[in-house]
Amino acid sequence: MISKTHILLSLIILSFSLNAIHVLSKDTGSESYIVACGSSSGGTDSDGRRWVPDSRFLSSSENSKTATAQYQDPSLPSQIPYMSARIFNSAASYKFFVSPRQRLLVRLHFYPSSYDGLDASNSYFDVIANGFSLLRNFSAAITTQALTQAYIMREFSLVPTQSGNLNITFVPSSQHDKSYAFVNGIEVISMPAEMFQPANMIGFQDQTIDVQSSSLQTMFRLNVGGQFIPTRNDSGLTRTWYDDSPYLFGAAFGVTFQAEKNVSIKYPSNLPEYIAPPNVYGTARSMGPNSKLNQNYNLTWVFTVDANFTYVVRLHFCELQLTRINQRVFDIFLNNQTAQQTADVIAWSGSIGVPVYKDYATFVNDRDGDEEIWVALHPSVSEKPEYYDSILNGLEIFKLNDTRGNLAGPNPVPSKMLQDAEAAAASTFSPPAGSKSKGEVIGIAGGAAGGAAVVAALCIAVYIKKKRKSGMDPGMGNWLPLYGNSNTSTISGKSNTGSSHLSSLAAGLCRHFSLPEIKHGTKNFDESQVIGVGGFGKVYKGIIDGGTKVAIKRSNPSSEQGVHEFQTEIEMLSKLRHRHLVSLIGFCEEDGEMILVYDYMANGTLREHLYKSKNPSLSWKQRLEICIGAARGLHYLHTGARYTIIHRDVKTTNILLDENWVAKVSDFGLSKTGPNLHQTHVSTMVKGSFGYLDPEYFRRQQLTEKSDVYSFGVVLFEVLCARPALNASLPKEQVSLADWAIHCLKKGILFEIIDPHLKSGPPINPECLKKFAETAEKCLADHGLERPSMGDVLWNLEFALQLHENPDGEAVAAQDKANDAYAMHNATLTIEEETVSSEATVDDLNTSAVFSQIVNPRGR
Ligand SMILES: *[C@@H]1O[C@H](CO)[C@@H](O)[C@H](O)[C@H]1NC(C)=O
Ligand SMILES: *[C@@H]1O[C@H](CO)[C@@H](O)[C@H](O)[C@H]1NC(C)=O
Ligand SMILES: *[C@@H]1O[C@H](CO)[C@@H](O)[C@H](O)[C@H]1NC(C)=O
Ligand SMILES: *[C@@H]1O[C@H](CO)[C@@H](O)[C@H](O)[C@H]1NC(C)=O
Ligand SMILES: *[C@@H]1O[C@H](CO)[C@@H](O)[C@H](O)[C@H]1NC(C)=O
Ligand SMILES: *[C@@H]1O[C@H](CO)[C@@H](O)[C@H](O)[C@H]1NC(C)=O
Ligand SMILES: *[C@@H]1O[C@H](CO)[C@@H](O)[C@H](O)[C@H]1NC(C)=O
Ligand SMILES: *[C@@H]1O[C@H](CO)[C@@H](O)[C@H](O)[C@H]1NC(C)=O
Repeated sequence: MISKTHILLSLIILSFSLNAIHVLSKDTGSESYIVACGSSSGGTDSDGRRWVPDSRFLSSSENSKTATAQYQDPSLPSQIPYMSARIFNSAASYKFFVSPRQRLLVRLHFYPSSYDGLDASNSYFDVIANGFSLLRNFSAAITTQALTQAYIMREFSLVPTQSGNLNITFVPSSQHDKSYAFVNGIEVISMPAEMFQPANMIGFQDQTIDVQSSSLQTMFRLNVGGQFIPTRNDSGLTRTWYDDSPYLFGAAFGVTFQAEKNVSIKYPSNLPEYIAPPNVYGTARSMGPNSKLNQNYNLTWVFTVDANFTYVVRLHFCELQLTRINQRVFDIFLNNQTAQQTADVIAWSGSIGVPVYKDYATFVNDRDGDEEIWVALHPSVSEKPEYYDSILNGLEIFKLNDTRGNLAGPNPVPSKMLQDAEAAAASTFSPPAGSKSKGEVIGIAGGAAGGAAVVAALCIAVYIKKKRKSGMDPGMGNWLPLYGNSNTSTISGKSNTGSSHLSSLAAGLCRHFSLPEIKHGTKNFDESQVIGVGGFGKVYKGIIDGGTKVAIKRSNPSSEQGVHEFQTEIEMLSKLRHRHLVSLIGFCEEDGEMILVYDYMANGTLREHLYKSKNPSLSWKQRLEICIGAARGLHYLHTGARYTIIHRDVKTTNILLDENWVAKVSDFGLSKTGPNLHQTHVSTMVKGSFGYLDPEYFRRQQLTEKSDVYSFGVVLFEVLCARPALNASLPKEQVSLADWAIHCLKKGILFEIIDPHLKSGPPINPECLKKFAETAEKCLADHGLERPSMGDVLWNLEFALQLHENPDGEAVAAQDKANDAYAMHNATLTIEEETVSSEATVDDLNTSAVFSQIVNPRGR
């Protein structure tokens, strides 16, 4: 009886899984196998995709075994397929039956962890599929370390075969002792053979390369000017598309935009939707509105690739703003060679909203280990288009197999700096996960510190390396080192590690300090070291690594709000790097302490240079430059990252000055990721500081980036008048600086209330002063909609500075200079993966005691 039921059950399960594995997608007619290797029962991943066990696909089960990872890195998006693995001690194959004459998209997933006591760093192996070498002497451990990820996915597209069968063989390296092969997940998805057509070899007249008969490796897939697109939003082929900003070269990165509501994406009959989803075509990056400036720069992306291979660069275009031919015409360069002259998207596609793509092939030589692909766009001046501008919506780079059917490149070589960092990591980091997690609330980075820890310092090293190489602004970096589809797609709370609220990405991006190290650096939190006291706790001056000055912020351990803000700050700052944002160096979470370690800002806060201090007064030029720096930092927060980030507590004590008087915005404890495409505001409890609060935010508790603009307007008047935003000892009409300054401005008596030091110092150009005051006034408009964007504020301040510097110069010249300064400042990066969670927009905090009195949304 029992056995009968058992058999019946097994049959049901079997037929169920057979259905599950042979998924036929409506969009592409593709079949797919999604296989969790070494798993006995399969399961569903965080994208809701069902993975099935692998045993039925193995040609033989003799030379392999199954194993479970001993440690679950918090950055894993789900247990499936990463927590189980198939381990091979000698060559073994998987076999899949697929329809003939279809291209096969093959994805291999690797999580190099410790399985059954095997050391992942001993694993070197080859992977061969239908005669193509996909990987050779591959070390998943070295590769993930170099990429600062816990796991990795490799995607290939194999040429169609007559039989349709696919045979994937894993061969452990014979050159290394104790070597073994392993794999965690395999996806096989059939895709239309028409996905690829012959591509022009650039630099050669009319020479094309036969892409259809080659197998490919996906190197990069970017949604230019848009956000990360997860597998579930790319139906059928389940690809992931990444943000392009980490790959932008230099300081000028143009502007991004998306299709307005009245422009819909219309696929032409010769471009099926599987080529790229509408989200890719619906967002774009262009050079910006200034034709003159655009003539002087190239919009450029740089990619690191393997040498001695041919690459196909696929550029996706879709005009979203212009409708006529010869409005936006540009040239396309690949590795400094002309790939396309006079590209005109409307001429190609026929209409606004209609996608088109172009493939260009190029061979990348071996040039002393620095193999790169440069993609650059420049307006075609000779065509005299209406606008000197260019546009790009999406970009993919595929590597073609070489003549011997090989696709594999070498393992990445850790640089000297990486090795140093690794050594440092080994000595500084605390013991791995599972060790302890003290208290529910405070167990912040416990798990994350383990697996991600070693990787953490490496990451900083890679950042430094990249930064130097591409000669970017020192505040910028390129956080997607080397190549590969970055898979650190975790968002906080998504991982299954219980108490850990900190995404491992964040944990992985900054250094973890031990408590003794911190105590040593601050003379055991000696009061003489205190340089500031805030709502969060005290800030100490400290020394680390035997000489580096840092600022150490120690929380008040009893505050629940502190925990949340601690996390917010690490999450935000670890992913944001900008010259005008205070850099987080690391954190310490031990014994109930929550400690953040920052760059030391030698000149303290802006406020202490304005009033109520013995510091010498700042010159007008210094003040302008500091305001410009802070505006850049805020502008970056609002527009530079994947999500709009609203600071929420802009004030003169949150603008810090380093030893060179460079202004840096600090204190992200209250920051919010702002409205995304689907919302226009973030609804939240009122937080912030009196005197700086946006009246609209106060009235309606709706937060937009314009709330920061308001607060910044108050900062500008504070800088001009050298008095606090609120001063209760003054007559009633003067208590609020915002109200008083506007009142004086309207009556034409603003000059009377400006800082006496400014009046007695060198004369200030009245035009400059007027521009500055006007800008501050606009920031303080009652309604957010009427306030300028941070970008406009920045432009106006640049303009004011030009007026100050060239008091006799033509206004036009000053305007041009402001334009240049504005565009050139736009050096940025976005480090985060899709990380700054939109979930974070939901505020579940209790309002702090300080602010509870004003949160009383009575009426309306
Ligand atoms: C799969 O390919 C490998 C190597 O190419 C070969 O040794 C093996 O016999 C093939 N297996 C099957 C089942 O075709
Ligand atoms: C993905 O698709 C969902 C549902 O269709 C949509 O709500 C979401 O905005 C999409 N995300 C992106 C990044 O396109
Ligand atoms: C779409 O609307 C914007 C204003 O919202 C307008 O400037 C643009 O011309 C419109 N585009 C088309 C194609 O109608
Ligand atoms: C590329 O090919 C050249 C010439 O065959 C060879 O010297 C060089 O080592 C190769 N580089 C790599 C990275 O394989
Ligand atoms: C392209 O030119 C720039 C400078 O003009 C140079 O730094 C870069 O290495 C060149 N790239 C390639 C791939 O030749
Ligand atoms: C743009 O790139 C091309 C090709 O590398 C180069 O010839 C040209 O000088 C660049 N233009 C500017 C303004 O940098
Ligand atoms: C890739 O391999 C196929 C089959 O071996 C071959 O026909 C093709 O020419 C190779 N591609 C390149 C770019 O060499
Ligand atoms: C295999 O990779 C390791 C690490 O990158 C390297 O040291 C070794 O030389 C490689 N072996 C071969 C045979 O290429």
